[in-house]
Amino acid sequence: MSIARYYAWLSRFQDAARGVAHDTGQQTLTVHRRLRADDGSVSGDVLHARVLDAVRATDSGATAPADVLDAGCGLGGTTFYLQARLGGRYTGITLSDTQCARATAEAARRGLEDVFHFAVRDYDADLADLVPTGVDLIVAIESLAHAQDPAATIGRLATRLRPGGRLLLVDDVPRDTLAWDDPDFAGFRAGWLCPAVATDATLTAAFAAAGLTLCHDEDLTPRVTARSAVVLETLVLTARAASAVLALTPARVLMGALLGGLKLERLYRRRVVRYRLVVARLTTRPSPARP
Ligand SMILES: C[S@@+](CC[C@H](N)C(=O)[O-])C[C@H]1O[C@@H](n2cnc3c(N)ncnc32)[C@H](O)[C@@H]1O
Repeated sequence: MSIARYYAWLSRFQDAARGVAHDTGQQTLTVHRRLRADDGSVSGDVLHARVLDAVRATDSGATAPADVLDAGCGLGGTTFYLQARLGGRYTGITLSDTQCARATAEAARRGLEDVFHFAVRDYDADLADLVPTGVDLIVAIESLAHAQDPAATIGRLATRLRPGGRLLLVDDVPRDTLAWDDPDFAGFRAGWLCPAVATDATLTAAFAAAGLTLCHDEDLTPRVTARSAVVLETLVLTARAASAVLALTPARVLMGALLGGLKLERLYRRRVVRYRLVVARLTTRPSPARP
């Protein structure tokens, strides 16, 4: 299953659930975790508010980023949220043409085609033609989890940062002690198509190798909505049974994603994975590797 097909299916699910669920990400144009705000409300924009605060807290000289790249932009919700509050020009890339088309249509609906550019591109490819003069900020929300080699991806993305530019990541980061073959961890990786999730140590080493210095680190796990243990385990059993029944139909993608999310919830409960928001600034440009 490719990432593009995976997200095409999730988009269909979001559409179908629009009529029955409160917000499946349609309202906020997001495909990320809906977090709990201080006032108890739950929405895709709670994460956006944390991201905005982190960008503002790490602005040097109180200047907002002029050019932003969203590496794994989904439906574009993060770029629309930030642009409305910070201004600037935004490039969003995704592997899903469904997502790219929706984000592009939303930019047109807002009359902001000159400010937003969405493209179907791989963040592991050379992006020099897309952002030839670099960017001040790269955001990657729940997208690097899909990378084959997250440390290499971080290194490549960092080459697109202007001096002093920032890389902002939000992702599920396992503790270094979590065994790779842990059944919950393996189930999460399989269900969410995350082959090589970066651990705490991987991130630290990747930043150092890319010349990035950590300037903001926030654990958002307490804001993730959690079910009771009984409800969680009942859902795991139900999703397992449904996956077996749907094994030969396209809908198995949705059950796999659901099961992956439930396994992740177990990992949170065990306190072996954290949902982290980190910002790192480009402080030194690593010299290119010699052939
Ligand atoms: C969970 S969604 C998150 C979307 C968005 N960041 C958000 O917060 O709503 C993951 C996104 O990462 C993108 N993605 C995954 N691997 C990618 C790659 N190699 N290059 C570009 N985008 C990628 C997917 O296409 C999808 O848009």
